[in-house]
Amino acid sequence: MITEPTSFSAESYFATQSSPPNLGQEIQRVREWIQKQVAAGNRVVLVTSGGTTVPLELNVVRFLDNFSAGNRGATSAEYFLKAGYAVIFMHRQFSLQPFSRHYSHSTNPFLDMLEIEEDDNSPDGTPRISVTPEKRAKLLKTLTVYKAVQASGTLFTLTFVTVNDYLWLLRAVSQELSVLRKKAMYYLAAAVSDFFLPKQKMSEHKIQSGKGNLSIEMDQVPKILKTMVDEWTRDGYIVSFQLETDPELLIPKARAALERYGHQIVIGNDLHRRKFEVVFVTPNTGGHQTDGSAQYVETWVRIDPALTYPGIQQIKEIEEDIVDELVKRHTTWIGEPQ
Ligand code: PMT
Repeated sequence: MITEPTSFSAESYFATQSSPPNLGQEIQRVREWIQKQVAAGNRVVLVTSGGTTVPLELNVVRFLDNFSAGNRGATSAEYFLKAGYAVIFMHRQFSLQPFSRHYSHSTNPFLDMLEIEEDDNSPDGTPRISVTPEKRAKLLKTLTVYKAVQASGTLFTLTFVTVNDYLWLLRAVSQELSVLRKKAMYYLAAAVSDFFLPKQKMSEHKIQSGKGNLSIEMDQVPKILKTMVDEWTRDGYIVSFQLETDPELLIPKARAALERYGHQIVIGNDLHRRKFEVVFVTPNTGGHQTDGSAQYVETWVRIDPALTYPGIQQIKEIEEDIVDELVKRHTTWIGEPQ
């Protein structure tokens, strides 16, 4: 295997790595949907969600992955819809999705909600399926919103699997969405792989075992946020996320991202505290610091951890507060009332 590492810029990445085969058709569908949102005067948010895989072979048997289940993205998408936004939900295949997420989790399985009942009126004696009474109210609430969203056509779903799919899709969707200028928001909650194997370095067939250790040298995935800000999004409101496991790194890394990419906001989250605590880091545009010296402003958003236990007891989701705050900030960014 070739082991020379390459440093890809966004430009050289797209010039050398192949686009997913169905990209053109997907983007045509996105374009038509965006035109409808423009005509309706809607704000649109692109929510990216879930992890990305890094295949190790061209005929892929093995790949690297990460932990993200897509909870942040799927939950946030629901709150954006509730706030009146149209949502492009770009998610890793089989990660959580808005609405169905309530029942696809192992803590609240869908089948446990259903009961089989004898039906005396059934001509062939087939039993009826009904919803367990104690689960009915929550299901009805979720289903009602889901049906309303379906009827309004304000949720558009796209899927990716590999980091390559993600990067091509992100570029194409961002460029399409840029027609909305300030009315577009980009909410980048996906956990994107930092390293990958360019197709030119991948083994064609399954890597064979039995020859001792396996060493693979991966290349860095280009940091595409700078190009996204400068070239693809034209005045859009860009929200990136910073995940750390060392709390000491959260604020310095978030500030460094703002400095490097020049976008509007980084939301920092610690892996183990992310369900009840995040920090908004923004450039200081004046007025926040009395001595005027700080370049950045940090705003913590916290909820009581006891309210966040998964399953039917969960009564508060931090994404509600995150989205609420972002909608206010986006309104200020646009310069018009919601
Ligand atoms: O899905 P959950 O289980 O609910 O978890 C949610 C989450 C913890 C994954 C989420 O809240 C989060 O923090 N996502 C970002 C993880 C991260 O640290 O990403 P990053 O450092 O690789 O990238 C920073 C930002 O740039 C991210 O917004 C990412 O989407 C974006 N990025 C990064 C690299 C790249 N090549 N392209 C990108 O768009």
